[in-house]
Amino acid sequence: MVHPQRTCSHMELLPLVCLCLLSCSGTTSADPAGTVVVEKGSDVILPCSNNGVNLETESFDWTKGQMKVFSYAVGQHSNKGKTGQAEQFRGRVSHFEEELKHGNASIKITNATMADSGDYTCDFPGVHPARKSDVKLVVGAAPEPCVKTVFQTETLAVLQCKAHGVPDLEVHWQDSDGNKLPAEEPQVTERGGLSYITLKTTVTKTDNFSCVATQKNISHRISSEINIKIDEPDNTGWIVAVVFIILFVAYGAVVGVVLYKRIQKHKRDMKQLKDGATEKLSDGARP
Ligand SMILES: *[C@@H]1O[C@H](CO)[C@@H](O)[C@H](O)[C@H]1NC(C)=O
Ligand SMILES: *[C@@H]1O[C@H](CO)[C@@H](O)[C@H](O)[C@H]1NC(C)=O
Ligand SMILES: *[C@@H]1O[C@H](CO)[C@@H](O)[C@H](O)[C@H]1NC(C)=O
Ligand SMILES: *[C@@H]1O[C@H](CO)[C@@H](O)[C@H](O)[C@H]1NC(C)=O
Repeated sequence: MVHPQRTCSHMELLPLVCLCLLSCSGTTSADPAGTVVVEKGSDVILPCSNNGVNLETESFDWTKGQMKVFSYAVGQHSNKGKTGQAEQFRGRVSHFEEELKHGNASIKITNATMADSGDYTCDFPGVHPARKSDVKLVVGAAPEPCVKTVFQTETLAVLQCKAHGVPDLEVHWQDSDGNKLPAEEPQVTERGGLSYITLKTTVTKTDNFSCVATQKNISHRISSEINIKIDEPDNTGWIVAVVFIILFVAYGAVVGVVLYKRIQKHKRDMKQLKDGATEKLSDGARP
C-alpha cells in the first residue's frame, strides 16, 4: 500500500515559497500591547499612525534604542538622501508613500533578522505635545513544523517533526482528538539564536496526527498535520473463507434435499412396484 508522506525538503529548499505562504497566511501579528511576532527572514510591517493627520508635509522618525531606523521629513526620507540611518537597516526599510495622507507612518522591514528584535519607537517631532508610540518586534516565531514518516511497517509508523524558533519553543505530537502522544526525548540544538527541535513518535493507528510548536512567551502556536494509514489486521481472507463455507453448506443442503426427495420418491416407486407385484403374486397364489 502507498502511504502519503510529506517531506521536509520542500520547506528547507524553498524558503522563498515558504515566506510567501507565511506572509499570505498572516503569521505576522500585532497584539494589543504592540508586539509584532515574525519568522526570521520574513518581511514585517511596524505600525504607527498619527490619527489621520496628513503627514506628507510633516515628519516622523523611527528609532530602535540609539539607532535611527527610518526618518521622513517633508518629502525627504532615509531612502532619498536623508542621512543618519543605521547600517543595519540600510536598504531594508521603506514607508508607504500613498498612506502618508491618511496619517499612516508605518514602515516595512524586509528579511527580518534576529538582530532586528527589540523595541522600536515611532515619533512625530513636529507634534506638540510630543507623540510617540512603541512597537516590540520579536523575530524568531516558529514557522510551520516539517513533518514526515521516517519508518513504517504494517502495524506502526514512526513520525518525525522538525521545528525551530526562539528558545522558549515547545514541540509535541497529538492525535486528531488533541491527545498528546508519548514521544522520544526531543533532540534540541541551538544555532544563531534559534533552537532547533526534532521530535519523533511512534503511532499504531490510522489517524491525522499533528505536530504542534508553541512559544508561550510570544503567544505563538503553529502546527502541521500528517495523515497516517495503518493497515488494520487483515480480515478479508477470513471473510472470503466464511462466505465460501456458507455457500458450500447451502449448496450441500440444497443438493441433499433434492437427493433425499429423489431417494424417497425412488423408494416409494419401488415400494409401489413391489406391492403391485406382491398383490399379483398373492392373487395368482390364491386358490
Ligand atoms: C498603514 O499602511 C500599511 C501598509 O499599507 C497597512 O498595512 C496598515 O494597515 C496601515 N495602517 C493604518 C492604521 O491604516
Ligand atoms: C536575508 O538576510 C540573510 C542574513 O542577513 C541573508 O543571508 C539572506 O541572503 C537575506 N535574504 C534575502 C532574500 O535578502
Ligand atoms: C522567551 O523565553 C526564552 C527562554 O526563556 C528566551 O530566551 C526568549 O528571549 C524569550 N523571548 C521573548 C520574546 O521574551
Ligand atoms: C484526516 O484529514 C482528512 C482531510 O485532510 C479527512 O478527510 C479525514 O477524514 C481525516 N481523518 C481522520 C481520521 O480524522
